[in-house]
Amino acid sequence: MTMLAIDFKEQVLRLKKERNAIILAHNYQLPEVQDVADFIGDSLALSKNAAATDADVIVFCGVHFMAETASILCPNKKVLIPDLEAGCSLASTINADELAAWKQEHPDAVVVSYVNTTAEVKALSDYCCTSSNAVKVVNSIPADRKVLFLPDMFLGSYVAEVTKRKNMYIWPGECHVHAGIKAEDINKMLATLKNADFLVHPECSCTSSTMYHMAKGDLAQKGHILSTEGMMKHARTSGAKQFVVATETGILYRMRKENPDKEFIPVKEDATCRYMKKITLEKVYNSLAHNVYEVKVPKQVADKARLAIDRMLAIS
Ligand code: 13P
Ligand code: SF4
Repeated sequence: MTMLAIDFKEQVLRLKKERNAIILAHNYQLPEVQDVADFIGDSLALSKNAAATDADVIVFCGVHFMAETASILCPNKKVLIPDLEAGCSLASTINADELAAWKQEHPDAVVVSYVNTTAEVKALSDYCCTSSNAVKVVNSIPADRKVLFLPDMFLGSYVAEVTKRKNMYIWPGECHVHAGIKAEDINKMLATLKNADFLVHPECSCTSSTMYHMAKGDLAQKGHILSTEGMMKHARTSGAKQFVVATETGILYRMRKENPDKEFIPVKEDATCRYMKKITLEKVYNSLAHNVYEVKVPKQVADKARLAIDRMLAIS
């Protein structure tokens, strides 16, 4: 007997309608997953979308902390992640016990946690932030208050530099993908691609040197430190024809699809997040068909974490 191959795309689209489900996908997701998504965006846009949807089920195609954020914002909805192993090396650099101990060392400080953290860590935080609003969030805190910023040290140093804040303590965490995008990688490109715009994610270890180039003039007008959605917007609206992209390479699919007349060059071809790539179209189908894997944050944790997320949403 011959087995008929399942058309996963067709089945996903059918199940999505039947179950009044919405598929949210991060900009780094595989092309076939982006193609079935109702909405593609960065962490902030995905959180806002999760908060606003009237769908009964949210299939979160991203990493675990993002699905947790959706569950925190929509406690009455079913939030599914197609693979529980879609974690985040950056979120794993700090846990709730470590944050509690750090807070004890600085009892009067305001805690700002990047959204790439577990729900338990968010629950111990005063504010959340994402790469697109970190500067705004830190600027909203009175200048005389100490800030504990976590967990990304490159984003933290960038925020400290832009806000000129001297009382910011930064957790030494990093993302394995972005830490690997180094100053030398940018410098090589800068030497040959004179007319390109440079789009750099603030989690990259090359962020400070990019800022240095911007200040010095070799990247004046052409260097841009942006969240993934900020990069998408810049790609759409800039008059440039060539873009050097310093972030996870999954974003290139959407950039090229939406801007077919422009050229996008990755700074590092192998900058791929193995966690983001855990989510495949077959797993999205499996998720919708079998209700797996539900992400539910316990109410006590969710209620506290929601305060930090809501404070962020109120200022962004
Ligand atoms: P964005 O919010 O800019 O999409 O970043 C999320 C992330 O995980 C970057 O690695
Ligand atoms: Fe986490 Fe880095 Fe992957 Fe983003 S790219 S999800 S920060 S491991």
